[in-house]
Amino acid sequence: MRRSINDSSLIVSMNPKSPISEVYRLLRTKIHFASKDQALKTLMITSTQAGEGKTTTISNLAVTYTQEGKKVLLIDADMRKPSLHRVFSQPNHQGLSTLLMGQTSVEDSIQETIIDQLFLLPSGPIPANSSELLDSVVMRELLELFKQQYDVILIDTPSVLSVSDSVIVSALCDGVVMIVASGKVRKDHLKKAKEQLDHVNARMLGIVINKDVK
Ligand SMILES: Nc1ncnc2c1ncn2[C@@H]1O[C@H](COP(=O)(O)OP(=O)(O)OP(=O)(O)O)[C@@H](O)[C@H]1O
Ligand SMILES: [Mg+2]
Repeated sequence: MRRSINDSSLIVSMNPKSPISEVYRLLRTKIHFASKDQALKTLMITSTQAGEGKTTTISNLAVTYTQEGKKVLLIDADMRKPSLHRVFSQPNHQGLSTLLMGQTSVEDSIQETIIDQLFLLPSGPIPANSSELLDSVVMRELLELFKQQYDVILIDTPSVLSVSDSVIVSALCDGVVMIVASGKVRKDHLKKAKEQLDHVNARMLGIVINKDVK
């Protein structure tokens, strides 16, 4: 069944020529240069606090990668407040949580989306122990498998200061991009988030200032 997408969130797909879509493509280019020729297959997006634009940014970024011919896997590792399935109007009965618990197979958990070459691993039902599920050998092995099957793997996560999940995932990724809602984030919170990511040697590629309406 072909599904629709939540067009208000996915501007790069709905209106690829718009200036906003151009900004997402610029972000893709900047990420490429920030990686300084080191391998960059698994990329995670996070923020200091909730609602700064992580899901919106990673969804549009994923589409820009498909537009340059890449096969992309988008993973919803925000298993506490999942939302990527809503952006793509897909079901969420199975996904990362059921895969990590051994209840579903990779094939059953990953879905095609309406966008060619863009695949979605939704969060699956909210588990009681998302940190433990993410901090596991199974999660590491899955990422290694996905690296062989996809050109780019993009991972949406919760905010850094709310739970440890994003710090755990950052240690497994090649790079981290931090979304900062313009004028909404305290400097000391940003510093604390950066310290937590540095603590696990996460590779911070840069910061996106989002929702800057000036
Ligand atoms: N650049 C932007 N300009 C205007 N609105 C935006 C922008 N980016 C995101 N938003 C809006 O801000 C709200 C929160 O965005 P989003 O869900 O992407 O944030 P999030 O960081 O993933 O939130 P959560 O922490 O709840 O997962 C949404 O209503 C989204 O449409
Ligand atoms: Mg989100």
